[in-house]
Amino acid sequence: MRPIPPGYGGAPGQRPALSRPPGLTRPPASGTGSVAAPAAITPAAPTSSPSPANAAAEFLLQFKRSLLPYLIQRINPQLLNSGNKDALVQTIEQLIDEKLSADKIPIGKQLRDKLVNDVTNEMVGFGPLEELLKDEAVSEIMINGSHKIYIEQKGKVTLSPVRFVDEASLRRVIDKILSPLGRRVDESSPICDARMPDGSRVNVVIPPCALDGATVTIRKFSKNKLTMEKLMEFKALSKGMCMFLQSAVRGALNIVISGGTGSGKTTALNALSSFIPEGNRIITVEDAAELVLMQEHVVRLESKPPNIEGKGAVTIRDLVKSCLRMRPDRIVIGECRGGEALDMLQAMNTGHDGSLTTTHANSPREALARISTLVMMAGVELPEKAIKEQIAGAVHCFVQCSRLQDGSRKFTYITEVQGMEGQTITLQDLFKFEQTGISQEGKVSGVFRGCGIVPKCMDHLRAHGENLPVEVFQTSLEV
Ligand SMILES: Nc1ncnc2c1ncn2[C@@H]1O[C@H](COP(=O)(O)OP(=O)(O)OP(=O)(O)O)[C@@H](O)[C@H]1O
Ligand SMILES: [Mg+2]
Repeated sequence: MRPIPPGYGGAPGQRPALSRPPGLTRPPASGTGSVAAPAAITPAAPTSSPSPANAAAEFLLQFKRSLLPYLIQRINPQLLNSGNKDALVQTIEQLIDEKLSADKIPIGKQLRDKLVNDVTNEMVGFGPLEELLKDEAVSEIMINGSHKIYIEQKGKVTLSPVRFVDEASLRRVIDKILSPLGRRVDESSPICDARMPDGSRVNVVIPPCALDGATVTIRKFSKNKLTMEKLMEFKALSKGMCMFLQSAVRGALNIVISGGTGSGKTTALNALSSFIPEGNRIITVEDAAELVLMQEHVVRLESKPPNIEGKGAVTIRDLVKSCLRMRPDRIVIGECRGGEALDMLQAMNTGHDGSLTTTHANSPREALARISTLVMMAGVELPEKAIKEQIAGAVHCFVQCSRLQDGSRKFTYITEVQGMEGQTITLQDLFKFEQTGISQEGKVSGVFRGCGIVPKCMDHLRAHGENLPVEVFQTSLEV
């Protein structure tokens, strides 16, 4: 008797009922059907009039639901685990044809091939995610339970027609994603952050914490690295801004990139890091390593979640402290979201210039408040003024990233920290993006404007051999 993998339902050895998928009636006459219009398949007693494409999708879903346990019963587990995809596809094709013919369901070749493809993906790959993972135009996949998969393409989020057959199928795919990474989720530990082998970042939350079914968010690793040149091509910043940032990084300014979720902070950090001169010893500290630095001398550190007994966690803070003993020339912290902010400021204030990090905030001014709050999380009682002085003494510049209404991501501010006036940290915008309009197609127009101010950090830059022409701060670019 063949064992049935968990989640497929049905008692071992019991042949699942091969009934027509619920909701489907037998077609009135023979026909070939097609993917776009499964003319031969009529959903029974439709409550509304679904479009042919929806009817086809619904049919596929229903049929697959009955097909999977059927195939699992019939396919030799050795073949399933052999990794011989060609032989498996052949067997799946054969069994699907048998079942279609036994159930007298005439469908077109396109629909039948899609069924074979979907079922193969379901059995040996990541199911419906397989196609989305392959599609380079999709940058993010957000699964809200088995029936709602949202995708981001060109900065726009839409509901994808792709669905899982049921929650069990989604859970199997989650297990398939996590288990090679040595990770798992279950009721007692329902949250997991991990990095897939291709560099994509994945977050999973399952019930009881996720109320409407398992929730998976995959930030796909972009094969097309977004370099500064590319970002300029995409009108994310102007040439003048890029020239300043290049000098700022080469000249070892401490820079904090701030922005909302998915606004492009990590991308900006990666692109900025490329300006760190070769020969510097760079230490990167991240939660889930996303940075890809091209320099030779890089040490990559990644935090570690606790084990099953809740022990052995290594936090970003532990790693930041540790990296200070590793003789870094540059410290790059993926994101400051806790007490490590204090260690980072102390590092910046004690000769580790040229450090880079990101934080969640909607403006440079908010980023200041955010860093103050994070420092307080370090559990060291510091008066507010002392925290502000630490920040003012440590951070030279903020780069603000924003995702605009049209889905485009831009560097909306480059702002210098000038010092303290009484209890207040003074900030000066060096560049900003001013939105001037939005077209009928929803495209944002505006201008990247240099504010015409020569920053205080020019002395620091000159001392590091960076002789940036001051005209850069007067440049503007309309987009
Ligand atoms: N200027 C840009 N133009 C086009 N796409 C961009 C740009 N910047 C970032 N992206 C894309 O936007 C997505 C989000 O970027 P990124 O991961 O850098 O954001 P983030 O602010 O770090 O997000 P999070 O807050 O989740 O960490 C990625 O798919 C990235 O490739
Ligand atoms: Mg990020």
